[in-house]
Amino acid sequence: MMPLTLLLFFPILSPALAWLPMEDWESGNVTTSADGLECFCSVFLPDSTFPADRVQHMQQVTIDLKLEVEIQMNKLVHYRGKLDIFLGELMDLTVRVAMMEGSADDYIKLDFELLRIELREFEALVSQLKDSLNSSSPMFDSLYTEIHNMTLIVNQLETIDKNNLEVIRIEFAKLQKKLEECQKEMEFIKPDIGNCNHTGIMSISKPTVIQINAHLNAGYQYGGWGKDSKPVRGYESMHWYGAYSTPSVYEFYLYSNYDKLIQRSSFTHHGLPQGYEGTGNNYVVHGNTVYYQADNPFRMSKLNLTSSVYSHRQITKASERFSYTYSPKQYLDFSADEKGLWVMYATEESMGKIVVAKIDEKSFGIKGEWTTNAFKPLAGNAFMVCGVMYATRPGDLQTEEIYYSYNTKTGEEKYMSIPLQKFQEKFVNLHYNPTDQRLYMYNNGYYVSYNVRFNKE
Ligand SMILES: *[C@@H]1O[C@H](CO)[C@@H](O)[C@H](O)[C@H]1NC(C)=O
Ligand SMILES: *[C@@H]1O[C@H](CO)[C@@H](O)[C@H](O)[C@H]1NC(C)=O
Ligand SMILES: *[C@@H]1O[C@H](CO)[C@@H](O)[C@H](O)[C@H]1NC(C)=O
Ligand SMILES: *[C@@H]1O[C@H](CO)[C@@H](O)[C@H](O)[C@H]1NC(C)=O
Ligand SMILES: *[C@@H]1O[C@H](CO)[C@@H](O)[C@H](O)[C@H]1NC(C)=O
Repeated sequence: MMPLTLLLFFPILSPALAWLPMEDWESGNVTTSADGLECFCSVFLPDSTFPADRVQHMQQVTIDLKLEVEIQMNKLVHYRGKLDIFLGELMDLTVRVAMMEGSADDYIKLDFELLRIELREFEALVSQLKDSLNSSSPMFDSLYTEIHNMTLIVNQLETIDKNNLEVIRIEFAKLQKKLEECQKEMEFIKPDIGNCNHTGIMSISKPTVIQINAHLNAGYQYGGWGKDSKPVRGYESMHWYGAYSTPSVYEFYLYSNYDKLIQRSSFTHHGLPQGYEGTGNNYVVHGNTVYYQADNPFRMSKLNLTSSVYSHRQITKASERFSYTYSPKQYLDFSADEKGLWVMYATEESMGKIVVAKIDEKSFGIKGEWTTNAFKPLAGNAFMVCGVMYATRPGDLQTEEIYYSYNTKTGEEKYMSIPLQKFQEKFVNLHYNPTDQRLYMYNNGYYVSYNVRFNKE
């Protein structure tokens, strides 16, 4: 067998790649290996400005090719394995192309010219190698096809898909416009966020959000979710979530907006330190502060998310004997509405009937109490809207019913039957949010929310 020396050139004649004809190839030295054969490949790079990463890439390919030649020369059976490495290189390139297809942003960064040159080089290499080895191996043929196909993809990306990108942009702009119009319409239908000029709840929509909790754990049945009802500047859309497999409260997750909540991408997380743990799951976030029921000793607590400072107040009257229907330990139920912050509990004096208390946010004290006729152990939950307490009770498995209201301003109470469709039977946190006039429910491990419609005068 004749010893063979190949000296491969990688001329930079952008955008076209020219290969020197075979007769111009320089001969290198022939070194003798054990079996008398040695293959010598070297790369000539005339352009010093040539990108280093591409050089490296091409050098790698050259090494692979060198191996190929060696193997061909030695007629070794490892042929297939080595070619697989070469094909692996090509796969990287395929992945890169696929990534570019996937993301619109990357289109803009895509250097089609560079990619095409790289592909042409591959093409030429394979072609040259094939000729010089006088090989008609099916491996080379499929390699050649693959490279050619990728060149076609790149060309398509550059022409058709660039136009597609433009189409996507136009469609996106249209959608945004539609969304804006829809929002305007919503504002027209609901011009009265924060206005209590109505005579109470008329109806509740079907659930508008149903999503499993951020732990993706249906066993986390005790928890709550919602939106800050009096957000501080910069946190206008802040959402929160907390849950566990028992009524104990150990942590809260905060999300910069609704989308982040759905994507389970919190910007921060607060673990309650030992001695500050809560229970009962009727917490809310109001004014960038979490209000919750601390466990031991039993008291109302708040965690200021701005300062990370905890404060506590004991409500001596609040009884630890009366909880809601679906869950134990729900002694303090926090709620926020257009009028401010409230806490609801039952007392021995009220014999288990719900007492509504107004919280003074500055002093973290109670500044008013109203005893209702809603017997807490029969109620599913309660919430405040415009200074009016609404209590629910179980209907059938899929329905909860708002059955009672108490107006703290007038002392007027009403009995009613407003259905609330549930996703699952049990729930542990139900509250109203005055910033969007929605109800938020933690329904057996699922986030559920509702729109509220009010009676007009
Ligand atoms: C080729 O061999 C000669 C003499 O053996 C040596 O001087 C020269 O450096 C070699 N060239 C290469 C490229 O190895
Ligand atoms: C190359 O292949 C052709 C036909 O496929 C054959 O006639 C020729 O002898 C081969 N040359 C070498 C150097 O193997
Ligand atoms: C190349 O493209 C042709 C036609 O689109 C297709 O039939 C073939 O399977 C492709 N080959 C490879 C290796 O991707
Ligand atoms: C409340 O409603 C009454 C009757 O519809 C209306 O006269 C009054 O201007 C409204 N007040 C506000 C603050 O919207
Ligand atoms: C929380 O802490 C900040 C910074 O100390 C303070 O300005 C704010 O009033 C506090 N909020 C509550 C509800 O205590």
